Amino acid sequence: MKILVIGSGGREHAICAAFAASRRTDQIFCAPGNAGIANVADRVPIPAEDIDALAAFASGNSIDLTFVGGEGPLAMGIADVFGQRGLRIVGASKAAARLEASKAFAKEFMTRHAVPTAQYAICQSPQEAAAVLRSGRFGDATAPTVVKADGLAAGKGVIVAAGRNEALAAVSELEGIAGASAASRIVLEECLVGREVSLLMFADGNNFCLMPGTRDHKRLGEGDTGPNTGGMGTFTDDSLLTCQQLADIEASIIRPTLAGCAEEGFPFRGVLFLGLMMTEGGARVLEYNVRFGDPETQSLLVRLETDMVEVCEAILEGRLDRTEVRWRPGSSATVVLAAHGYPYSPRKGDAISGIDEAATLPDVRVFHAGTAVNERGEFLTSGGRVLGVTATGSDLDEALASAYGAVGRIKWDGMQYRRDIGK
Ligand code: AMP
Ligand code: GLY
Repeated sequence: MKILVIGSGGREHAICAAFAASRRTDQIFCAPGNAGIANVADRVPIPAEDIDALAAFASGNSIDLTFVGGEGPLAMGIADVFGQRGLRIVGASKAAARLEASKAFAKEFMTRHAVPTAQYAICQSPQEAAAVLRSGRFGDATAPTVVKADGLAAGKGVIVAAGRNEALAAVSELEGIAGASAASRIVLEECLVGREVSLLMFADGNNFCLMPGTRDHKRLGEGDTGPNTGGMGTFTDDSLLTCQQLADIEASIIRPTLAGCAEEGFPFRGVLFLGLMMTEGGARVLEYNVRFGDPETQSLLVRLETDMVEVCEAILEGRLDRTEVRWRPGSSATVVLAAHGYPYSPRKGDAISGIDEAATLPDVRVFHAGTAVNERGEFLTSGGRVLGVTATGSDLDEALASAYGAVGRIKWDGMQYRRDIGK
């Protein structure tokens, strides 16, 4: 089988590696891929957002199955275009991708289907948002409030403000931070308190298969300090969600969400990602993503035991209810290694040493996110998040020890990482 993976980050490296482990795969292409992905897939120099060129490539090269990594092409309708041309693709339709591409749409969808989430207000302008904040609807001047840009903003569209003044400042700065188009509408939310967990699933329109619970560490600094990033590390561990919590989430969130999608005419096919806050009153949805997370995927897919192609075929043929998706028992952890200056102005061109040594350690994988290769075949930094070092173990401590052991072999000038992933 010929596979095409769309995207260029650590997530897509992990997806390519999962396809490479399949007995059913003959050849993997990745558009546009990155220097590390070139070890498992043939790179195709087409940007992830150039949907027509990707569809032409898939037809011209008899691709049997395409898998989309990120939200950009999904929100632009890549699954619809491929579908219309009879090309098999795993990824949410344009209509379903609104669950991620518009936070206002997602909130109203949750209201329509009684999915538990934070109280909110949708505002059509910064002036309206400021008036709502001043009205006291989200509490007095000391109440923490969350300010969100409606549209896709590459992780930059959410500000958790400690009080009203901070929220007002966030409202007036949002356009500059998230971009005019993303911030054309503003969603205000009550600030929920609890433990954050992400729960992802494969979905085929009606049925779903859960992945292990996972957690992301979004702040740059240890102890969750410093600026927000795309994610500095993740882990999977069964202790993140109890069986009772999973049963409650299934009943109160997953079933109403999937039924709501089907009822509104966009059955959800692909990977659905629930960002959850475990509050005292139960799980609440913080956000939907319509795709795998980065770097959650790296920690998840190293535990996938079932053949990735079989999972994709079950999604496409609507038979996830008759498919057992198995995960290796135990835990996993991913530590992201970032470039000097990340997230503000990551430096490119630093020579990286020790990748091979790290990658040959037992139970360790090194996924590339932002690397380039020079004429001598050496890897250089070429993005903010450069590598993700992932390890599995029989428990979280073992996975973390292996991951950090491997991190210790890798070096470049200005390399940054958190030493407290999974703690
Ligand atoms: P989102 O992109 O909507 O998941 O928001 C990014 C991050 O902001 C989440 O991972 C949470 O840490 C935080 N966040 C979002 N919404 C809320 C909320 N209503 N209450 C508390 N924290 C939130
Ligand atoms: N790591 C969070 C995300 O991919 O959205």
